Amino acid sequence: MKFIDNKNILLGICGGIAAYKSVELLRLLKKNSANVKVFMTENSEAFVGRLTFEALSGQPVCSNFFEKVGSRSEYIEHIDWAEKADALIIAPATANIIGKIANGIADDALSTLVLAVTSPKIICPSMNTNMYRNKALQRNLDRLRKDGFFVIEPESGELACGTSGPGRLPEPEYILNRLLFRLSPKDLKGKNVLVTAGPTQEYIDPVRFLSNPSSGKMGYSIAGVAEKRGGRVVLVAGPTSLQDPSNVTVIRVRSAQDMALAVFEHMEQADIIIKAAAVSDYRPIDSCKHKIKKKKDEMILSLQKNQDILEELGRRKENRFLAGFAAETENLEKNAVDKLDRKNLDIIVGNLIGHPSSGFGSDTNKVTFFYKDGTTEALPEMRKDEVADILLDRIVTMMNSSTFLGNK
Ligand code: CTP
Repeated sequence: MKFIDNKNILLGICGGIAAYKSVELLRLLKKNSANVKVFMTENSEAFVGRLTFEALSGQPVCSNFFEKVGSRSEYIEHIDWAEKADALIIAPATANIIGKIANGIADDALSTLVLAVTSPKIICPSMNTNMYRNKALQRNLDRLRKDGFFVIEPESGELACGTSGPGRLPEPEYILNRLLFRLSPKDLKGKNVLVTAGPTQEYIDPVRFLSNPSSGKMGYSIAGVAEKRGGRVVLVAGPTSLQDPSNVTVIRVRSAQDMALAVFEHMEQADIIIKAAAVSDYRPIDSCKHKIKKKKDEMILSLQKNQDILEELGRRKENRFLAGFAAETENLEKNAVDKLDRKNLDIIVGNLIGHPSSGFGSDTNKVTFFYKDGTTEALPEMRKDEVADILLDRIVTMMNSSTFLGNK
């Protein structure tokens, strides 16, 4: 992922049962092309062996300054790492390390490292609920927040020690998500971003509907990336099985008419509107109250056109930035450019569907941007969150340009 690619991340691991989740966090960081150096406290080695972290990170683990690595002591090594670090995460962070950092104590490799790191520092407390609620611990966490540390609150639930309440380490995906938030530029700060995602469902009777195979992944990726870049994001989503992106207002809808209502309710405040939803063009004229029984061999369904939400947004656009999508099976350029003009858009993201790695349901997409000034930009196949980042890069550039209507 762009803002973590090739970045130097320090991963501190303390002695808590949640240390097993750090293995997955490390794997995710490496999968996203980060360089990771692991620092373990002595106690953490009772939970997970250092070999696991060394194998996954491709780096020796540091737990003691005085061990030699080649001809240099670890002490020198870890000061080097502190200087070149882009971020430090401690997950799980025990009450002990939190107390030490809050009070500037440096009596082992990890606590000493923390004092030397100047880049963003993320602390993920994980412990027994009563320990977490303890006043001294809370006081230390407050002090860390005031000192500029970013504390990821633990989740509530059943803990390994048998108690129930706050103290559980969040899932590694969430920790990675919040790290990305820290590392992303805040170039959408102050902007309201309205995104639509997923399919719509048009009910024929209580148990059947017309829809399409859109998974919603593209729109959810855009909403997630826009939030990380500082935007205030509202996501209007048709039925999907995806988890709500962090810190995004999600409005769940079913039909195209519901989607239109939600979009028009939120469009006034929006500076940027990105319509990634695959809206059903038609709905049944009559939706039956009861399940339709099969009778004749043939059945005729009468449909009526849904409102084109994007076209209406184009009419009411004023100085908003408007982006649409065009998923086509043929004549991509002709169809996309026609929609760009007809719907009064600033950009349209076109892709050819029918290929397994591009379009509905897949994690990747191969898209072409068609701009209002007649230029095009074809991107190679990439993950949908990468497409989202590049799309937002282009939107930010266009909105900052002197020719953008919103700047006049
Ligand atoms: N769209 C919309 N409301 C509709 C239909 C489409 O807002 N009722 C939006 C989609 O969210 C997308 C863009 O318009 O951003 C293009 O959608 P698409 O289904 O590709 O195009 P249509 O305009 O419906 O044309 P056609 O189905 O004939 O290709």
